[in-house]
Amino acid sequence: MPEFAALTVLTDEVFGTVSPRLYGHFAEHLGRCCYDGIWVGRGSPIPNWNGFRLDVLNALKAMPTPLLRWPGGCYADHYHWRDGIGPSRPVRLGMSCGLQVEDDNGLGTHEFLDYCKQIGAEAYLAGNMGSGSVQEMCDWLEYCNASVQTELVKERTSNGHAEPYGVKLWGVGNENWGCGGHYDADSYGLEYRRYATMLQHVDPNAELVTCGHNKEWNERLMDKLRHHAFLVDHFSIHRYWVTGGSGTAFSDEQYYKLLREADETEDFVKETRAIIQDAVGDKKKIGIALDEWGVWHPEVRQWGEDAVGGDLNNYEQACTLRDALAACAAFEGFHRQADSLSMANIAQIVNVLQAPIRTEGDAMWLTPTYHAFAMHEPHLGGQAVRVLVEGGLSLPDGSPAVTATATTKDSRKAVTVMNRHLHEGATVRIPVEGSAKLLASDRASDENGPDSPDRVVLREVGLTPDGNGWVLELPPHSVATIA
Ligand code: AHR
Repeated sequence: MPEFAALTVLTDEVFGTVSPRLYGHFAEHLGRCCYDGIWVGRGSPIPNWNGFRLDVLNALKAMPTPLLRWPGGCYADHYHWRDGIGPSRPVRLGMSCGLQVEDDNGLGTHEFLDYCKQIGAEAYLAGNMGSGSVQEMCDWLEYCNASVQTELVKERTSNGHAEPYGVKLWGVGNENWGCGGHYDADSYGLEYRRYATMLQHVDPNAELVTCGHNKEWNERLMDKLRHHAFLVDHFSIHRYWVTGGSGTAFSDEQYYKLLREADETEDFVKETRAIIQDAVGDKKKIGIALDEWGVWHPEVRQWGEDAVGGDLNNYEQACTLRDALAACAAFEGFHRQADSLSMANIAQIVNVLQAPIRTEGDAMWLTPTYHAFAMHEPHLGGQAVRVLVEGGLSLPDGSPAVTATATTKDSRKAVTVMNRHLHEGATVRIPVEGSAKLLASDRASDENGPDSPDRVVLREVGLTPDGNGWVLELPPHSVATIA
């Protein structure tokens, strides 16, 4: 075995096109994600564009942010969209995940959709099935997308937007097996059929997302929908990684466990795909929408392995290099499943859970996960192809330490390669010329903060020719993209 890992990009073995939607995000009215995170209000001393903080807005423009889901999460099943339009907005209880806040509805439909346009993101609206009605969701769709001069369209016009917004993606509830109403799969399936039928009448171009869960739920739900596949465009699943121990004080074993859990997200996608395939075959292409994913550390969790419990918190957790590596492991799987996965949305975009961006007062900083997204930019829209990795280091469980993903676009190739080994560096031979963007730091537990925003950042590093290709030295626990 050579001591270096040699990569071969198999351009003929294509997995599928990496839809930009696989690099989507999620903004929920939870803790300080929306209020105080992306939105500070028009009167804020923090520089803002129409109420949205400018530093965050500019950072989002510079990172792949092709898709943004809103307003929840669990919040969506309490949200009444009419509260967030027009000049006078009622204050309501904002509820999600056990938190209750005073919600002045300053950030509503127009603000959100205009923000999406500003940052170059496609909007994905999650409708309220838990405490709403079919009519309420149909009205929201009509309000956003219709061009016939109905009362709702006139109202949209008088609120400043004559043109239809043309929002394509509509979630019919969220986690309806839990916070979205504790349905069983059969009753949710029936309810979904009613909602989706009516929504399709209002806008046949809307892409509707049904709410999946675990294997048992997904099988039963698809059984209910097998003769109504024409009502389903995307099948939502969520996957949080919870077995990696503390956000910063983790053991070697927990470091590897978290990466393994991130890898296993791909198995969940494959399992879900098989269930859908079994139920509807080729009658209808239903994409899998992994519309919440990421690390959820025990410090901000009251359930699952190592949960700390205690008081309800604001869901703000450490965001380290290890978490970014877990995201990169997941991206490898997303690329391999590019043909089944129609979107993926990390939870959540600012401050909450595995946030790419954090804020505190007027300070803003980027987390290592931000840089993980940024370095994958060359892959968006490319063809994901197989990469062969031969030789090189092994991890304690015997699996290869060096893993990689590659895409081709026109005649260009992009390769992202990880060294998952916690303690040893890896030498990698890469068949692509160029320089690399490297994400590395002394410790996997390193993170950025208001006083050290640049501890974990991307650095340009050169590749050295060795006669057979180009060689890149990857430090322990690091990742690089060569494009
Ligand atoms: O992202 C936080 C919460 O996790 C969401 O509101 C919910 O959908 C999920 O349980």
